[in-house]
Amino acid sequence: MSILVTGGTGYIGSHTVVELLKKNEEVIILDNLCNSSKDVLDRIEKITNKKCKFYEADIRDEKELEKIFSKNKIDSVIHFAGLKGVGESVEIPLEYYDNNVYGTVKLLEVMKKHGCKKIVFSSSATVYGDPGTHKYVEEMGRGKASSPYGATKAIIEEMLENLYVADNEWTISILRYFNPIGAHESGLIGENPNGIPNNLMPYIQKVAVGELKELSVFGDDYDTKDGTGVRDYIHVVDLAEGHVKALEKLTSPGVYIYNLGTGSGYSVLDIVRTFEKVNNVKINYKIAPRRPGDLAMYYADPSKAKKELGWEAKRGIEEMCRDSWNFIKNL
Ligand code: NAD
Ligand code: UFG
Repeated sequence: MSILVTGGTGYIGSHTVVELLKKNEEVIILDNLCNSSKDVLDRIEKITNKKCKFYEADIRDEKELEKIFSKNKIDSVIHFAGLKGVGESVEIPLEYYDNNVYGTVKLLEVMKKHGCKKIVFSSSATVYGDPGTHKYVEEMGRGKASSPYGATKAIIEEMLENLYVADNEWTISILRYFNPIGAHESGLIGENPNGIPNNLMPYIQKVAVGELKELSVFGDDYDTKDGTGVRDYIHVVDLAEGHVKALEKLTSPGVYIYNLGTGSGYSVLDIVRTFEKVNNVKINYKIAPRRPGDLAMYYADPSKAKKELGWEAKRGIEEMCRDSWNFIKNL
């Protein structure tokens, strides 16, 4: 039996594929390569000494999905495929609904048709909206989405819950990620977005290699320890391990929602200083105005995942910063 990983050549998907292959799982990757490239497959093979089947396909292409499910015995799906730019989603909302929501509908339809009713879905801490507290607990439920991207995640979560009510044979894991950074220790896979990055670590990486002049720190007047924004950064390999645990542990039907974070918050300047210290490089930065839509501070309560999945993040920010640099400097 195989595990289909949609978006498996992407940042989080590729690290998850490595962890699955390490457990001797049979993996099939589906990706349309709109935000990743095929050479990731060779890199995965270099790390694991194992191959996986790859389909260059779009989750919205029902015919392709049909073909993949007919040709293979697929037991479960880990669904990463989607667009993820918060700012971009404000510019082109319809593409976000089409890709993320419509794409997921098509995927679920074909899964159902083939009797494959186990899915792990990539959600995000953004679904909490702005709950007025810093520590996010699963029971708090969903808040008002602050972007079309966030809305697509909230809608898909709701759709998955509706699906279970209609057919309680489904086993559905919804994993709400906090801020994934870092890279595989081999330096072979990691995050390297095209163009000017929106997220903190990819931006720091480009400043470190000299591709960009300086980091803009968005706001130093928040009510946080040093005035800069605080987030729960999680090493991408810890996150990947969380998916493996979810597949292993969640064997009876239901809808299961977990935060995947470390439980600790770090400021923008904590990350800049740690990156400088562990890698012995200088990160030039300037203080810039707050970025619209940003919250001052939030982090996960990860205790539910620890209790029910036996999972907890093991890697700290020093390792995250070291691995991020190790990946980018070897590109
Ligand atoms: P990524 O862009 O690196 O990976 C997504 C992959 O999906 C890419 O390889 C892309 O080519 C593929 N893809 C996109 N649309 C597709 C489609 N219609 N059909 C087939 N393939 C398609 O992003 P990532 O950081 O690895 O994120 C993976 C998932 O996790 C996404 O759903 C994202 O929204 C979610 N997530 C990411 C973060 C984060 O900070 N990275 C935080 C929370 C949630
Ligand atoms: N930041 C800067 N300068 C930059 C980029 C970011 O100061 O150039 C700051 C932000 O203001 C924030 C922190 O760094 O305080 C983290 O920002 P990111 O853009 O890296 O991440 P976000 O917390 O804004 O959002 C990320 C993902 C979303 C996801 C969310 C879930 O981009 O997809 O985490 O928590 F929804």
